[in-house]
Amino acid sequence: MEHDHHKDKTNENKTINKNNTVPFAEDNFTHNIKQLQERKLDRRGFMKTLVGAAGVFAVSTLPWGALAMRELSRDGEKQYAEKEIVKLDDVKVGEAVQFTYPSEHHTALLIRTGEQDVVAYQNACTHLLCPVFWDKGKEKLVCPCHHGFFDVTTGQPTAGPPQRPLPQITLTVKQGTVYATGVKRYET
Ligand code: FES
Repeated sequence: MEHDHHKDKTNENKTINKNNTVPFAEDNFTHNIKQLQERKLDRRGFMKTLVGAAGVFAVSTLPWGALAMRELSRDGEKQYAEKEIVKLDDVKVGEAVQFTYPSEHHTALLIRTGEQDVVAYQNACTHLLCPVFWDKGKEKLVCPCHHGFFDVTTGQPTAGPPQRPLPQITLTVKQGTVYATGVKRYET
């Protein structure tokens, strides 16, 4: 028995020696792989901490005034989240639906001007912020407060006190559903 056991051990050693590429017994080798992975994960965790710290540092040192200026100027390309508004089939040609974009505080109107045509504007009047509505008969956006009128295809004021166009909301239609994708900027 003792002899057999010794023989086994010798065989085992022989196998390992023959495969010169395997330096340790198999369980040791597996253990080493795990160790390497763990080290990688540790590094990643460490990098995340670094990025987080850099982020906090960046935020605390941001030149807010300069950012606000950029935001107000036309080159500040703001990113907006895409938002589902309505199924195209649920709005008849010539009709409008109200929605909010980009936040719940920005009311807006979407008007279906043709079979495949939709336009949308934020509907706070550019005069004194009264809500503008869609007048189907006149085919214009109308502000009742001081009789302001806006062109439906451009959002430009056509009559009354408003001097600036309504901010247009960019739209995309995917598989019959209309999505808001952004708010266009105008020169002031
Ligand atoms: S608030 Fe709209 S015309 Fe004055």
